[in-house]
Amino acid sequence: MEWTREQRYTKLDQMSEENYQSLLDATAQSKWRQHYHIQPPTGLLNDPNGFVFHEGQYHLFYQWFPLGPVHGIKYWYHLTSTDLVTFNELGPAILPDTLWDSHGAYSGSGIVVNNEVKLMYTGNHRTQDWQRVPYQLVATLKGNQVSKQPVIEGPEAGYTEHFRDPKVWYEQGMYYAVIGAQRDNMTGTIVVYQSPDFQHWTFTGELATDYEDFGYMWECPDYFELDGQDIVLFCPQGIEPAGDAFNNIYQSGYLMGHLDKENFNFSHDHFIELDNGFDFYAPQTTLGPQGERILIGWMGLPDTDYPTDNENWAHCLTLPRVLSVENHKLMQRPLPALTQLRGTVETAEGYAMKHNVKLHPYEGDCYELIVDVLENESTEFYIELRVSKKESTRLIYNQADKCFTLDLFDSGKLGQSLKSYTRSVILEADLKKMQIFVDESSIEIFLNDGEKVMTSRIFPGEDARGIRTSTESGQVYFRFTKYDLK
Ligand code: FRU
Repeated sequence: MEWTREQRYTKLDQMSEENYQSLLDATAQSKWRQHYHIQPPTGLLNDPNGFVFHEGQYHLFYQWFPLGPVHGIKYWYHLTSTDLVTFNELGPAILPDTLWDSHGAYSGSGIVVNNEVKLMYTGNHRTQDWQRVPYQLVATLKGNQVSKQPVIEGPEAGYTEHFRDPKVWYEQGMYYAVIGAQRDNMTGTIVVYQSPDFQHWTFTGELATDYEDFGYMWECPDYFELDGQDIVLFCPQGIEPAGDAFNNIYQSGYLMGHLDKENFNFSHDHFIELDNGFDFYAPQTTLGPQGERILIGWMGLPDTDYPTDNENWAHCLTLPRVLSVENHKLMQRPLPALTQLRGTVETAEGYAMKHNVKLHPYEGDCYELIVDVLENESTEFYIELRVSKKESTRLIYNQADKCFTLDLFDSGKLGQSLKSYTRSVILEADLKKMQIFVDESSIEIFLNDGEKVMTSRIFPGEDARGIRTSTESGQVYFRFTKYDLK
C-alpha cells in the first residue's frame, strides 16, 4: 500500500482510540513478534535515541512512527531499565508538537546535566512549500514529559538541509555535540559544536577526517574514547559495494585513532563496518555505571521493505553490546547481564561430518547457542538453524579462507529484494567460537568473542525449528551449549 503524505503526517492523537487499538491488536497477532528484543507496539521503529544512565536506571528511546510501517512523522518512544535486559515501556516522550519539530522529532542523544536528563535532538520542520528546516533542540526530561527549546536554528552556511542527529558528551568543563551533515557539494561530514552550559552552542567547524568524499550524507555520528583510542561512529549514505564490504543500502561503521580536541583533526585508520549482517544501522552508545561502553543499534535499514509491513509494524533494536579495544581492534560482546535471560540449558559434543547431523533434542526458535569449534579438519562446515523441510538459515565457515558466511537464501520470507542472499566476513584468526542469539525473527552472531558481528532479521515459518550441522568434506569436533531464552 502506498502511503500518502497526509497519512504519513497523521499524528497519534488524530486517530480514534478504537482505530489505534485495532492496529495494536493486529500487530500483536504477528507470528514474527520478538520475545526479548525491543520492538514497537505497532508502527515503525528506527534509530535508538537518548541512551543515558541516570540515578540507577537507563533511559532509552527509539524513533517511532505509530501508525504504520513507514517513515512518517516521528516520535521518541521511551523505555527505562535497570539492567538493559528487561524494560519498562513509558510510551511516547517527545512528540512532534512544536513549530521546530512539527514534521518529526528526529534522532538525538542524552546526557545528565546538573542531575537532570537532557536530550538534544533534531526537530524536523517543513515549510509550506515543503522545504526542510532542521532545528537542534534541547529537551529536559521530567517523568515521561519534556520541555524543549531550539538551540541551533537551521544548518550552518556551506551545508544543506541534511543536518541532524546530535550526539553530545562532556569533557573538561565543556559540552560537545557532533552532528551529521551534508556539505553544499553533496558530500557527507560531521560538524562539531560546543557549549559551556548546554544552552548556548557555538559552531566549532568540521571534524576533519581523511574521508573528504565518502558518500553524500553521514547520519547518526557518535564519538567516545575507549581504551586509549578515540572512536568515531557514523552512517555514510551513498557508498558503493566493494567485495564483501558495503553491501547493504547504507553503511554503519567506525574510525579509530587520535582526535585532536583543539582543532578537531582526526588521524585515524580506515573505515570499518560495525556489523557484517543484513540489518544494522544508526547505532548509539552510552556509558554504563561501571564505565562500560554499551552500543545498541537499529536492526533494520531505511528505504527497505520487510515482511511485517503487511502486519502494520516494522523493526526492532539489537541486543546491547559492550565495546572494547583489544590489540587495536574494536571488539563487541553481548552485554553480560543478558545471561539473565537464560533458561534450560542443553549441551552436546561430537563430530560433524559430510552428512547432515541433526542435533537431538536440539531445536527451537528462541535461544542462545554457543558453538565451540574444538577441532576443525573440514574444508567447509555448515550450521543450519531455524530448519524445516523447506527452510534453513545457513552459517558457513571456510577454513582455508577464514571466511564466515551467513546465507539467507532458504531462510524464509524476505521483504527486501536482495541482490545477494549472503553476507561474508574474513576473520583474522581461525574460527573458534560462535555465540548466536536467535529470536522469533532475528539472528545475531558474535564470532570469536566479538571480533566480528553479523545481525539480521529472518522470517521463517513456525515449523522452522531444527538445528543441524554438516561439512563439505572432513570433520569438525564441536561443543554446543544451548540455552532457551525467556
Ligand atoms: C537515520 C535517520 C536519522 C534521522 C532519523 C529520522 O535512520 O534518517 O538521520 O534523524 O532517522 O527518523
